[in-house]
Amino acid sequence: MLSGKRILLIIGGGIAAYKSLLLIRLLKSAGAMVTPVLTKAGAEFVTPLSVSALAGERVYSDLFDLTDEAEMGHIQLSRVADLIVVAPATADLMAKMAGGRADDLASTLLLATDTAVLVAPAMNVRMWQHPATQRNLAQLRVDGVQVVGPDAGEMACGEFGQGRLAEPEAIFAAIQAALVEGPLLGKHVLVTSGPTHEPIDPVRYIANRSSGAQGTAIAAALRDLGASVTFVTGPATVPAPSGVRVVRVETAREMLAAVEAALPADAAVMAAAVADWRVANAAGSKMKKDGTGKAPVLEFAENPDILATVSQGDMRPKLVVGFAAETDRVEEYATAKRLRKGCDWIVANDVSPATGIMGGTENAVTVISAAGAEVWPRMGKDAVARALAERIAVALQNS
Ligand code: C5P
Repeated sequence: MLSGKRILLIIGGGIAAYKSLLLIRLLKSAGAMVTPVLTKAGAEFVTPLSVSALAGERVYSDLFDLTDEAEMGHIQLSRVADLIVVAPATADLMAKMAGGRADDLASTLLLATDTAVLVAPAMNVRMWQHPATQRNLAQLRVDGVQVVGPDAGEMACGEFGQGRLAEPEAIFAAIQAALVEGPLLGKHVLVTSGPTHEPIDPVRYIANRSSGAQGTAIAAALRDLGASVTFVTGPATVPAPSGVRVVRVETAREMLAAVEAALPADAAVMAAAVADWRVANAAGSKMKKDGTGKAPVLEFAENPDILATVSQGDMRPKLVVGFAAETDRVEEYATAKRLRKGCDWIVANDVSPATGIMGGTENAVTVISAAGAEVWPRMGKDAVARALAERIAVALQNS
């Protein structure tokens, strides 16, 4: 997803510098190349050896290293990258950037470059709030520098407040967003995924066998085409994709609330296996055997239909895609479902146990739209996701 992209990563000084090691791993596993630059202060917190071992490349650290100048001058170094990332960006580095100073390799690279720059600030809360830092931040934004974080929370210095380096996943997502090109650039797509858990009591719940694999693959494929994706997921067994906004929910009602909060969107793909029913008489404390041998009786109430609510609501996205997991008469039931729910397309699949689709890695789908039914060959869930994302891109372009 970032293959072929080169990131020049400037690691500033600060306790949060260790997180830049995790960021390098994320970038490398996404196929990016990382050229690391360690400031003098940065080298007090992470070693050049661990940085270069993870990046798989040499670390640049000293402006006046003559060997470097012979190999690759700092001007050239500043321009080979697709994106320059400063993480952590200290108050001092930000001040140098805002003031146009160039007294070490990192600041010289930043002044010499014409490449896009993303900074992830990290510092003590008072330093962050200081008018000087805020002035520098405003100047950097005016200069076109993108900023991710800082987060609020507990800090290594014992204080609490804004100033924590954004998590590596969030920096990674910002890098992706800064780099992606694609037909879905500027489009917001909402994806629901995974099962829902409907409580019986505080420790027991009713669930289904959905792994969330197909929804996750769809969110990743949409992201790869440049979409900004909100991923509303129940308790799935596969991890959520990186580079998307993840909203975790448990129940169908929570999922509906999260979906409504995420609108407006250009498209919505509802791949979640939402429980149709919840336990109406769920107990507030753990249900116990009372010794009489009498089993509890569960009563059920119907859950909201999220797909139908969104399809028929005021904030309806231009394109709404639903799923239909059927065990027989797939096309017939799914066609009826499309009309009943009011969505544009239904991606129908046969989840009878013999197919091995539910929880498996492959899918065989039939896409039902106003134009009729189209049977796709059996393929990996990733391939289904890519094909669907491309089709969504075409539909949004034509709408
Ligand atoms: O009605 P059925 O569950 O078969 O429909 C499946 C489609 O409806 C899926 O897209 C699923 O995400 C969505 N759905 C929903 N809310 C429900 C039940 C299903 O959004 N309560």
